[in-house]
Amino acid sequence: MHTIHLQEKVVLVTGGARGIGRAIARACARNGADVAILDLDLEQAQRTAEDVALESGRKVQAFEADVADLVLVRAAVNAVLAEFGRIDVLVNNAGWDRFALFLETTPEFWEKVIQVNYKGVLNCCYTVLPHMVQRRSGAIVNIASDAGRGGSMGESIYAGAKGAVIAFSKTLAREHARDQIRVNVVSPGITSTELFRAMQDHRTGAKVMEAMARSVPLGRRPAEPEEIAPAVVFLASDAAGYITGQVLSVSGGLTMVD
Ligand SMILES: NC(=O)c1ccc[n+]([C@@H]2O[C@H](COP(=O)([O-])OP(=O)(O)OC[C@H]3O[C@@H](n4cnc5c(N)ncnc54)[C@H](O)[C@@H]3O)[C@@H](O)[C@H]2O)c1
Repeated sequence: MHTIHLQEKVVLVTGGARGIGRAIARACARNGADVAILDLDLEQAQRTAEDVALESGRKVQAFEADVADLVLVRAAVNAVLAEFGRIDVLVNNAGWDRFALFLETTPEFWEKVIQVNYKGVLNCCYTVLPHMVQRRSGAIVNIASDAGRGGSMGESIYAGAKGAVIAFSKTLAREHARDQIRVNVVSPGITSTELFRAMQDHRTGAKVMEAMARSVPLGRRPAEPEEIAPAVVFLASDAAGYITGQVLSVSGGLTMVD
């Protein structure tokens, strides 16, 4: 029987400089993993890497890349492989959104949301998967959103991109089960981060977010990032060795749809 830990695993977390990604990096290191943090914001990623290394005693390093840019992702992944030797777990966490009703959005906004939230996942999987296939071992955990399962007012493009992440993950899980590579999704509800705060810059966004927080069955509040991370650790660990193609909602019960 497997207990839940990540000892002797190398984990790559995108968007790990702050918010949910930072909590995931911390939880992975506390559970025994060495961690590579890949982020747009190299300075913040380096500060986080130093903090996490200090508290966990694990090897934790920061790498810079925009996940939306395949060339930059390739360069960063090569640097991670040169430094850590392998990648056992890929956590696609980097994401971006702003609150806007569909008719307030522009095609430029669609492009950015799709590039970061969907193409970013494709770029990272496309780059890391061949190494996992070669070793016939690996786990991918993609961070979607309950917006992508049930829809969410003011998040039309983002919800579509996250829905795409879910469908893509299930397909990848089918294609790579024979390679002993598992692909699962963690789907947060509302979570107290910079992204959540930025959604409240819009007048309607502030009201919608407040109403959503009030309707969370567990606690009538948003999650803390530390409440999302354990689900990622579990799905990344060998304890989840018989689980693939699944979506785990961590939303305090905000959504209970299938
Ligand atoms: N906060 C929520 O309420 C919530 C709810 C559901 C899902 N999520 C998802 O959780 C994930 C983390 O979100 P968060 O709330 O922690 O956001 P955040 O804005 O607090 O942190 C996001 C991190 O990703 C990095 N990042 C953004 N764009 C990037 C890019 N193109 N390339 C590389 N790094 C990039 C940022 O620099 C930052 O460090 C996202 O995928 C988000 O969609 C968040």
